[in-house]
Amino acid sequence: MPTRRLFVAVPLLVLGLGVGLGLAAAARPSEPAQGGDGKSQLAQYMGELNAAVRSIPKALEEEGGREKALAELARIQKVVVDAKAEVPATVASIEDGKKRAEEAVHFRVEMNALLRGFLDLEDAVLQQDDKAVQKALRKLGETKDEGHSEFKGKGGER
Ligand code: HEM
Repeated sequence: MPTRRLFVAVPLLVLGLGVGLGLAAAARPSEPAQGGDGKSQLAQYMGELNAAVRSIPKALEEEGGREKALAELARIQKVVVDAKAEVPATVASIEDGKKRAEEAVHFRVEMNALLRGFLDLEDAVLQQDDKAVQKALRKLGETKDEGHSEFKGKGGER
């Protein structure tokens, strides 16, 4: 009976179309996620990092600012964890799939170095070791410069 066949054919067609579209999307190089303001999600996370590396040393100079600095450190470490799941545009645009995958790993490893840097800064703040605070901040600056020269591309803020 034609109507009965339709009952089988239509869901199969829909299923086939869904699988096909899914496979096509998976085969494409991943597009960097967009946040608000037309900026990439990664650029927004970076903006938060920028604010944190300025506000943390400032908080440490204030009376009772240590708790504020520790709270900001806890927050920013979570931002780094979110940021490392992103793929920079400079990586997503690499045509060669093998090279693209290698660079995505490289980015993640560099972001892990950044996370370690924030953990070192937290240790220094917890231990009230001013010298170690300065050292950790310098190291974060170096990790930033390395990350930017490798992955940032041109444009955007510093
Ligand atoms: C404390 C460390 C860091 C700070 C303060 C920082 C800060 C920034 C700022 C202000 C921007 C511009 C955002 C905008 O256009 O609005 C940016 C972009 C970017 N940063 Fe960082 N960054 C840091 C570390 C890193 C590291 C370690 C990497 C790589 C492993 C990295 C990769 C990038 C990339 C790929 C962009 C471009 C994002 C885009 O426009 O889509 N950054 N960063």
